[in-house]
Amino acid sequence: MTDHYAVVGHPVAHSLSPDIHAAFARQTGQDIDYVKLPAPLDGFAATVLKFRADGGKGVNVTLPFKHEAWKLAEERAADAEVAGAVNTLVFKDGKISGHNTDGLGLVADLERNLQFALRDKRVLLMGAGGATYGVMQPLLNARPRQVEVANRTLAKAQSLVAHFARFAHLAKDGMTAQSYAALAGTQFDLVINATSAGLQDEMPSLPAGIFAAGGLAYDMVYGKHTPFMKFAQKHGARTADGLGMLVEQAAEAFFIWRGVRPETRPVIEKLRIED
Ligand code: ATR
Repeated sequence: MTDHYAVVGHPVAHSLSPDIHAAFARQTGQDIDYVKLPAPLDGFAATVLKFRADGGKGVNVTLPFKHEAWKLAEERAADAEVAGAVNTLVFKDGKISGHNTDGLGLVADLERNLQFALRDKRVLLMGAGGATYGVMQPLLNARPRQVEVANRTLAKAQSLVAHFARFAHLAKDGMTAQSYAALAGTQFDLVINATSAGLQDEMPSLPAGIFAAGGLAYDMVYGKHTPFMKFAQKHGARTADGLGMLVEQAAEAFFIWRGVRPETRPVIEKLRIED
């Protein structure tokens, strides 16, 4: 019997998730189908509950509903709990469980696909919105040397750092909040853009010397040559967009639902060619 899954968002029309899960299902011989499920801004819970009532086994959740999904979950995995955001819901044994696979997806893309070991690295995260909350704990679990969170609105970076304070010891030199202007003279091995600035063809202003030799610039946005990517290339950094993270977070969700781990590399390569 075919099991039904969906990605819920607003908008959801351009989501690559159905293609990714269809590829995973073919590869692993799992009998699932996976559709796009648009929800009105004021109708997330109703849309999800109807999908469940119709026999759905789980959903992925994308913008702007990740916090609502967190609220809808009756139990949550530890990293989803602290992130305040859920991107994967499981309907099982009459209960709704929430997970957040974004952080694991980011770490898997960095460490496995891009061969960038996070351990003892100096990491700058740009942005202090939902995207940063979603990845912070798995990032700290990978034991970087330092995590700096920079944001246009400094107070939001400070609250984020305070929110994750009990995990800050995982980074040897700790975790701090900073304005972009205060970054002058500091260098990082990895700079992650978790702001939505690229979607408006903008980027926060970074000092030219921000990348350490051999530094990596990672933009969570995919399929778009953002101003941040252009800046990084101009300043000699290696660059990566968020396509690998998208496929890796999907693989983690697939594993949670089906208990089988798909191979991500051929799926990433295929999407790259089609891009
Ligand atoms: P998300 O859930 O996608 O992270 P969000 O919570 O609205 O969305 O957060 C967007 C992030 O991008 C914030 O860190 C925002 O900075 P502010 O907190 O100062 O608003 C950042 N951002 C968006 N546009 C930006 C821009 N043009 N320059 C710098 N930062 C920007």
